[in-house]
Amino acid sequence: MTASAIYPSLKDRVVFVTGGGGGIGASIVEHFCRQGAKVGFVDIDEAASEALVEALAADGLAEPVFVKCDLRDIEALRVAIGQVRSALGPITVLVNNAAHDQRHPIDEVTPDYWDDRIAVNLKHQFFAAQAVYPDMQAAGGGAIVNLGSVSWMIGQGGMPCYTTAKSAVAGLTRALARDLGPMNIRVNCVVPGWIMTQRQIDLWLTPEGEAELMQRQCLKRKLVPADIARAILFFAADDSGGCTNQSYIVDGGWV
Ligand SMILES: NC(=O)c1ccc[n+]([C@@H]2O[C@H](COP(=O)([O-])OP(=O)(O)OC[C@H]3O[C@@H](n4cnc5c(N)ncnc54)[C@H](O)[C@@H]3O)[C@@H](O)[C@H]2O)c1
Repeated sequence: MTASAIYPSLKDRVVFVTGGGGGIGASIVEHFCRQGAKVGFVDIDEAASEALVEALAADGLAEPVFVKCDLRDIEALRVAIGQVRSALGPITVLVNNAAHDQRHPIDEVTPDYWDDRIAVNLKHQFFAAQAVYPDMQAAGGGAIVNLGSVSWMIGQGGMPCYTTAKSAVAGLTRALARDLGPMNIRVNCVVPGWIMTQRQIDLWLTPEGEAELMQRQCLKRKLVPADIARAILFFAADDSGGCTNQSYIVDGGWV
């Protein structure tokens, strides 16, 4: 990380990250902490989240504020955002990161399962934005970064609810960017390719999959969570002050 940029505009900025306890989210939390931002995050995984807070504090960083929350419960999300606001101040950066990529064959999808997958992969992104934008408006501006996915662009099957939700993140980004732009609130989407989180390595990485990845990507290395976190820092910082309404793909050149 020593060769990475420092963004002066992120120092002391209050950042709210969803799903910050593990995977890419944990890297996002760490990267904002290293910028001197004041970070609050929610996650359903209490043990992983508390371990992250401890590890960052042990590294000499200001402790992020963790609130346990199941994002499928919008009222709980609103309460958690209120708690982070009370602890750190008005929120001017939102990173809508949480999702769950459980596989599901078409024939096993029930109406309840469909609703559950949309709730974990899409719905909270809108309601988090709805809850924080008044802080941004009062502050004269803000930045929202939504996490998309290349899965629906590359024709990945096996999880139609997830890919549907992730394609909708692109539309949500453009809808929010249009409505919030007059308040100087920028809304962008960062679209990861295949990123080697522990979950991906444990569950989905196979020799065949890795061979396909290396063949399809322009870059011949496996991408890691920090590759995504660094792009998100840019879209959160004032350095990207003219950028909104966009999806930026970080996939090593697969798509
Ligand atoms: N890893 C990849 O290859 C990849 C590829 C494309 C897109 N993405 C996107 O990047 C983002 C992060 O993905 P990841 O790979 O780090 O995922 P992950 O599954 O490793 O981590 C997601 C985090 O969200 C939390 N979470 C899950 N359900 C929750 C809930 N109901 N309430 C609160 N927290 C919950 C988990 O506990 C976890 O900490 C997601 O939006 C995902 O769609 C990832």
